[in-house]
Amino acid sequence: MSFGKEVFNVGVSSAYRLLHPMHTVLVSCVGKSGKLNIITLAWAMPTSINPPLVAISIAPRRHSHTLIEETREFVVNIPTMNILKETLFCGRVSGKGHDKFKEAGLTPLPARKVKPPIIGECVAHLECKLHSQFTTGDHTIFIGEILEAYANKNCFTEAGYNLEKAKMVFHLGGNEFATLQPRIFTPQI
Ligand SMILES: Cc1cc2nc3c(=O)[nH]c(=O)nc-3n(C[C@H](O)[C@H](O)[C@H](O)COP(=O)(O)O)c2cc1C
Repeated sequence: MSFGKEVFNVGVSSAYRLLHPMHTVLVSCVGKSGKLNIITLAWAMPTSINPPLVAISIAPRRHSHTLIEETREFVVNIPTMNILKETLFCGRVSGKGHDKFKEAGLTPLPARKVKPPIIGECVAHLECKLHSQFTTGDHTIFIGEILEAYANKNCFTEAGYNLEKAKMVFHLGGNEFATLQPRIFTPQI
């Protein structure tokens, strides 16, 4: 199938949008005062299996940036379309002036190994301690060493996520999101 020859020129400052939709996560963190926070992130990815590492990219002006630098721990929580509104909310207001757990109606539950809580409404959780950080232009990449990783048994098995049950959130851009068609393709190569 051909897509035609006409080109849409994307300015380089918006080039990242060509990589979207991106799987979107909710990162929970806590400051040294004990104040909890949640930040919505589309820029997250695994970077190593052994040691198990995950990277998240956060702009320095975000409140969560300060909190992660303070306590050097965070949890990557996986939301579903069931909490899409809450996911957008946590990405539109700052924890500087808001209690996002309370205002979004999300439940903080104790994590196994780190101080920040997990988010009860999410289907999976990666508990991390800060391994390293790098400045990349106007964002900081925080590398988390994954200390614990677990998921809801109804949604995740050896075969991976059950996409009928766990409708993952993908950020297209702005206030727009998509989810996966729960169909598996296995190409013969
Ligand atoms: C869907 C979505 C994805 C986002 N992805 C990122 C991201 O990857 N990195 C980032 O720094 N901010 C991202 N943001 C913006 C932050 O979530 C937003 O600025 C948030 O209010 C910061 O909260 P805080 O100040 O409490 O840390 C995203 C926002 C939305 C809605």
